[in-house]
Amino acid sequence: MTHKVHLQPSTLLSSKRRAKKGNNFEMKINTAALAAALWGSSFTHVAAFAPSHLLTAPACRISSSSLFSLETKEKPVEEASAEPTQDTPAPPAPAAETKSEESEGLPWWWSYIWDLPALQLGTPGTDITFADTAHVLRTNIEQIYGGYPSLDQCPLAEGEITDIADGTMFIGLQRYAQQYGSPYKLCFGPKSFLVISDPVQAKHILRDANTLYDKGILAEILKPIMGKGLIPADPETWSVRRRAIVPAFHKAWLNHMVGLFGYCNEGLIDSLNKASEKNDAPGGQKGGKIEMEEKFCSVALDIIGLSVFNYEFGSVSDESPVIKAVYSALVEAEHRSMTPAPYWDLPFANELVPRLRKFNSDLKILDDVLTDLINRAKNSRQVEDIEELEKRDYANVKDPSLLRFLVDMRGADIDNKQLRDDLMTMLIAGHETTAAVLTWALFELTKHPEKMAKVRAEIDEVLGDRNPTYDDIKNMKYLRLVVAETLRLYPEPPLLIRRCRTENKLPKGGGREATVIRGMDIFLSLYNLHHDERFWPNANEFIPERWESKYVNPEVPEWAGYDPDKWMNTNLYPNEVASDFAYLPFGGGARKCVGDEFATLEATVTLAMVLRRFEFEFDSSKLAETKVDIMAHPEDLEHAVGMRTGATIHTRKGLHMVIRKREL
Ligand code: HEM
Repeated sequence: MTHKVHLQPSTLLSSKRRAKKGNNFEMKINTAALAAALWGSSFTHVAAFAPSHLLTAPACRISSSSLFSLETKEKPVEEASAEPTQDTPAPPAPAAETKSEESEGLPWWWSYIWDLPALQLGTPGTDITFADTAHVLRTNIEQIYGGYPSLDQCPLAEGEITDIADGTMFIGLQRYAQQYGSPYKLCFGPKSFLVISDPVQAKHILRDANTLYDKGILAEILKPIMGKGLIPADPETWSVRRRAIVPAFHKAWLNHMVGLFGYCNEGLIDSLNKASEKNDAPGGQKGGKIEMEEKFCSVALDIIGLSVFNYEFGSVSDESPVIKAVYSALVEAEHRSMTPAPYWDLPFANELVPRLRKFNSDLKILDDVLTDLINRAKNSRQVEDIEELEKRDYANVKDPSLLRFLVDMRGADIDNKQLRDDLMTMLIAGHETTAAVLTWALFELTKHPEKMAKVRAEIDEVLGDRNPTYDDIKNMKYLRLVVAETLRLYPEPPLLIRRCRTENKLPKGGGREATVIRGMDIFLSLYNLHHDERFWPNANEFIPERWESKYVNPEVPEWAGYDPDKWMNTNLYPNEVASDFAYLPFGGGARKCVGDEFATLEATVTLAMVLRRFEFEFDSSKLAETKVDIMAHPEDLEHAVGMRTGATIHTRKGLHMVIRKREL
């Protein structure tokens, strides 16, 4: 899930007004803006959990300037280069408490407000409070306006709003990473984020120190939709539900699911057959027009419905009110993740705002369906131990859904609300992600006919016209590498979000050492990690073969490199261990995706069945609408397919293709 940022050039944290201690400059601080920023943060998602200290923060000199502005008689600094770079790390922050001569640029009352009871820091490891969030803002203000060294030792990225506000924010964050290294800090309005793009630091946050972080903003946004599902759950609920849900994805079930994926894909094949027979392709192209992103979304929804809660959406062939309700929930989850102020929390907003009224009524439709399915599963409950459940003969089980497993498990929490939250979370987490990887895999393979030919040769040899089995998928290694390479180029989601609950030190890795202060929000950029030339040579190119060769980079000795021997014989895809956290398609550590194998199997089955039967070309009428070459990076706003960030990386304009039946 990502955040669309709104840089506010004229606000408090405007980089143009950067002060630099010891330099001559002229600066004004609008203290009303300061106050607004502080209070504003309590109304935004950024507040909410628990923080810790900050008492090492430098204090400010008392100034008798006006309450609403402060001016010093100094000259502007052209380039705000006060920040450290990878080569010139920041000096340690000065000790706090001294209300020293060093607070040029900050109002006279600045150091005193931090003594207020309401601004005392929370306890490490507990939820972040308003005071903690305020203290994060304090460090940024002191760094920018007071000219103090950064407490977190991170440079502040400076840039134009267009770098991050055109729907491809993760690309803007990549440009900053190339300039500032990892981590760097991004401030907009009262919010700030550390952006992390280094595998050693990612390993620290996701695996080694994962208990010091929670999901922060992401949890706040998703709670109204997913409740206490795994993604937004509080730590206690998360550990109980994770222990129940992980065994549900056991080997026998996944084996059975492969057959179910084949069954759901038969509906897709029918629909593609019909499209190919239309022969309405533009110009001299033979075949029918089709928008494949939408088709992949439909099949992924059908699959998740049937496998997770035994519900036939039938969305490939139809559009029912329930399907519309699912999309409404998805769109709203995405909209909320990109909206800076949670207006839906305001009193009466749910009654007054038409968008929210519509969303709530759609959510009710979906909730009713889920409640009905849960009640049915509970009414026919057959309690068994986990070991027995894992040995079930799924070929003879009437309802093989994941819901059934969760309900039948001995000692399971079968509270309707919790089950509803679990199902809703998996519906949202497992649907668009898979649809996105299918879309981008077809896009890349169509751009690279030689790779398409190679993958088809493998499908023809292993599978022919059969529906795939688990063993077939193991044998279609190149196709699995295509899926892996697609997830490298198009990670879903492109950013992971965390918030620090206990101050801790980040290892240097291939970047810089830093201190993550309590309450600090983090964007861990999978996109940056996956596109870094230091770990993935020719990083922007689609090369599924890269996963077959070992790679180490002596220039980054802290990174152990990529080793195919660490996954090829044991896993379906190159995982985080094999790449020492430089490739994180499903995250890593305790919060790693529970559906990683399920998704890999699903994507492989779908691609195998579709590519065996159909040929694809880009729709020439769409190519003619732009001067940008289809081979160019889709980040270009004029690109015929284009990229746009939501919860996942979508196309900007759809994947418009011409489809023909393959001559076999
Ligand atoms: C290609 C498809 C998929 C991709 C790329 C993907 C990616 C991810 C990633 C990167 C995370 C970690 C998020 C974080 O650390 O903040 C995650 C978590 C999760 N995913 Fe997936 N996912 C996919 C499919 C699925 C499917 C099919 C399901 C369920 C059926 C699923 C369920 C979940 C859940 C429940 C979590 C939260 C786990 C936790 O916090 O304990 N995902 N996914």
